[in-house]
Amino acid sequence: MLLDTRNDEAAALRASLEALSEGLAIGIPTETVYGLAADATNPEAVARIYDLKRRPSFNPLICHCCDIEMVGDYACLDPLSEQLATVFWPGPLTLVLHSNPVNRLPSITTAGLDTVAVRVPVGFSNRLINSFGRPLAAPSANLSGRVSATTAQHVAGYFGSELPVVVDGGPTVLGLESTILRVVEGSIELLRPGAVSLEEVESAVGMAVTIPEHSPAIIAPGMLSSHYAPRTPVRLEATEVRGDEVLLTFGQRSVRGSETCVRVFNLSPGGDLAEFAAALYRILDEADRLSASGIAIVPVPASGIGLAINDRLRRAAAPRS
Ligand code: TXA
Ligand code: MG
Repeated sequence: MLLDTRNDEAAALRASLEALSEGLAIGIPTETVYGLAADATNPEAVARIYDLKRRPSFNPLICHCCDIEMVGDYACLDPLSEQLATVFWPGPLTLVLHSNPVNRLPSITTAGLDTVAVRVPVGFSNRLINSFGRPLAAPSANLSGRVSATTAQHVAGYFGSELPVVVDGGPTVLGLESTILRVVEGSIELLRPGAVSLEEVESAVGMAVTIPEHSPAIIAPGMLSSHYAPRTPVRLEATEVRGDEVLLTFGQRSVRGSETCVRVFNLSPGGDLAEFAAALYRILDEADRLSASGIAIVPVPASGIGLAINDRLRRAAAPRS
């Protein structure tokens, strides 16, 4: 059942609360991407998420809380994490924290780790968690390995009638997943670039963020080389496009072959990378339906949100297992 918050938010909230209380998983909008959400404290409900997504169970989920107090019920905030939380919550930042030893989430939620990834989202999802009174485990609402959903229709396309409720809040504002950080011995590590840029983090805390050379303790699918992938092969750094390819571009660059290729998508004619990020997953999904032989994408600068865009594009283009 698709319920639009813009017509009747109260009805969407009621139906969501009912399904969550029954231990079911539902589709919800956040400011980053749509989430496949269930009661983080209910192991059977969380198991449904893994099942629906066909997600490997070694990959822990992000727990969404309505405020820092709820986070404190389940996790320990060191002073630096608390500073980050104060600046960026509610918002697209996920912190990996030590679990609260006296009140642990079920091990299926955290994949048995003694840490938990938490974030405080904006908007409908925040109001929903507040009314529910418990955190929601919510990975991105896509089949494991595929492009994250930024519209309710995209969620319904993945899961169809398997979900009792998909809440439609319109296209998500940011279009890229949250940035994941963790504090280790007083320094901040970037585990996944995302909607909050490194520059924003560094200027908020006045210190450099480190990018770990080795993969973190868990190898998460979001950190595997092939992820966020459309079915059509993706070709990066394109300076020309072939007749049987689709082109993704932005700004006003001229790309050889664009007059005769399958289709050109300009994700931001004004050359704004935030606008590019917001449109990326939706356009990858659309481009994927055109039966082209490939999706060619022009070079994207790696500064600001461009770091996260390049991260997702590399994974979308990586050889598939
Ligand atoms: O914007 C977002 O973060 C979206 C929306 C729905 O909130 N959620 C999202 O979740 O992207 P998901 O499950 O697709 O990605 C969560 C990432 C995974 O790569 C997972 O491995 C990592 O967070 N993660 C979760 N718990 C962790 C932990 N304790 N330590 C390290 N990484 C963790
Ligand atoms: Mg994901």
